[in-house]
Amino acid sequence: MKNTFYTTTPIYYTNWIPHIWHAYTSLICDILTTYHKISWDKVKFATWVDENSQKALDKANEAWMEIMQYLDMMASKHKNVWDWLGIWYTDFIRTTEKRHHDLVREVLQKCFDTWDIYEWVYEWMYCVGCEGFKKDEDLVCLNKTTNETFEFSPKVKMSENIIKVCPDHLKEPQIIKEKNWFFRLSKYQKYLQDFYKNNPDFVVPQNRFNEVIAFVERWLEDFSISRQSNTFGIKLPFDETQVTYVWFDALFNYITLCKYPDNGGDDMMFWPANLHVVAKDIIRFHAVFWPAMLKSAWYEMPKQILTTGYFTLDWQKISKSLWNAIDPVEFCEKYSKDLLTLYMMSSINIGQDGDFNTKDAINQYNAKLANNLWNLVNRVVVLSLKIWWKLKSWDVSFLDIKKLTKDSNNNFKNYNLKQVLDDSFKFLDKLNDFTTKKEPWQTIKDETKLEETKEILYTIAEWLRQVWLILFPFFPEKMEEMFKKFWLNDYKEVLENWWLINLQNKQETFNILEKGSNLYDRFEV
Ligand code: MSP
Repeated sequence: MKNTFYTTTPIYYTNWIPHIWHAYTSLICDILTTYHKISWDKVKFATWVDENSQKALDKANEAWMEIMQYLDMMASKHKNVWDWLGIWYTDFIRTTEKRHHDLVREVLQKCFDTWDIYEWVYEWMYCVGCEGFKKDEDLVCLNKTTNETFEFSPKVKMSENIIKVCPDHLKEPQIIKEKNWFFRLSKYQKYLQDFYKNNPDFVVPQNRFNEVIAFVERWLEDFSISRQSNTFGIKLPFDETQVTYVWFDALFNYITLCKYPDNGGDDMMFWPANLHVVAKDIIRFHAVFWPAMLKSAWYEMPKQILTTGYFTLDWQKISKSLWNAIDPVEFCEKYSKDLLTLYMMSSINIGQDGDFNTKDAINQYNAKLANNLWNLVNRVVVLSLKIWWKLKSWDVSFLDIKKLTKDSNNNFKNYNLKQVLDDSFKFLDKLNDFTTKKEPWQTIKDETKLEETKEILYTIAEWLRQVWLILFPFFPEKMEEMFKKFWLNDYKEVLENWWLINLQNKQETFNILEKGSNLYDRFEV
């Protein structure tokens, strides 16, 4: 019996094409899903677009386009980016699809029937950029002349020039006063506290979980789940004059894809999801609102939420208004997807914030993939071709590699992707040292040392093969080509359909027949 593994990316807004920072979350999901898939799990990996939002409508208006025409264009742009990057998702959904509308209306009715939704007139500040409510303390002051922001204090004199804005979007929140439907979040405070206590790994890393716990401990306010003034979105089943608040709609996507999956069947065996991957900006929606909404609608809780940090670009905050959002396709066309993956996964531990610096990215790539890994592979290939004979199995010590494989399995399961990479490249360092010490390029010149040379080359080849298996979830295309260099042509198929473990036993022979092309060329800084 296979275990199921369901993982999700955030559902990205479509007022912009996906940028490299969205790719970060998608890459993490992709690597983890691939690992689980080749480890014999039945996987589901969902990615998508969040369309029922005011921002999308504003953008369509700016572009003088019909909203659906605009959304069709943006959805296909998003899908193309993930396809181009080779992200191995199993499901893609748009929130304007009928199946999703049906599901959201079902759950709204359920929550309404359990008295968790009620009507109220209220006045609030709202940031369209965040699609979230704001309180005074959430805002910062902006000097419109200098464009500088600073914390509010009683000394600050507000004026036409000094205004209060959302710190992330630098825009004044809207004041909204209207009749809305509210979700009784306050009712779930105790439930959430108990749930967190019983599920100490619900949010990782721990520091983010602590923030969530502290937030829930203070006081939970009910929140509005509908809009009277918006016209675009999912109509409430019990009040067709109002549309659903974007978060109440978006989060339930995770369930739509199980109840009404792409394949037309029923994927409810995948719920509860194993892992939602989100950045810190949307952790409250996922760790507080979402479990309460699920409880109200009688669904099980997701197993875990992995919270990533934020990247800056050359220490500047990423913002669409600063135009420092990088297009992932352009970046990967110029360098490579492996350079991006290697850098994003090995420069910070998941959860930490980090800075993106192209020079560092190139240096890491040159050192690890081009030198450490590829040079060694190339050496074995060239020397083996000189002997022109199959490399037969020798009794080499597997101690180190067994430990590496075991540690990597644990690290994949605990999302320590940086550690998997660090350990693998450290192992390759050792393998490079071993090679330098054994000098196969010298022994090969001596007829009497032929057997010794074969043994050395076999050892390096076998250890390389094991490292490629570990690196496969990160760099699937290039690792497949590596396998082919050693005539292990069916590996990708075996990995995709069978079991990684079947390939982790010792390989009896290697058949190296041609030099082939370079797999990792160096980049100039
Ligand atoms: N539509 C909501 C999510 C709904 S989920 C039910 C949304 N969309 S978003 O397009 O704004 O995407 C937010 C996500 O983009 C973040 O959670 C994060 O995964 C990613 N990132 C955006 N900027 C980022 C950085 N600067 N660094 C790292 N990740 C970032 O919010």
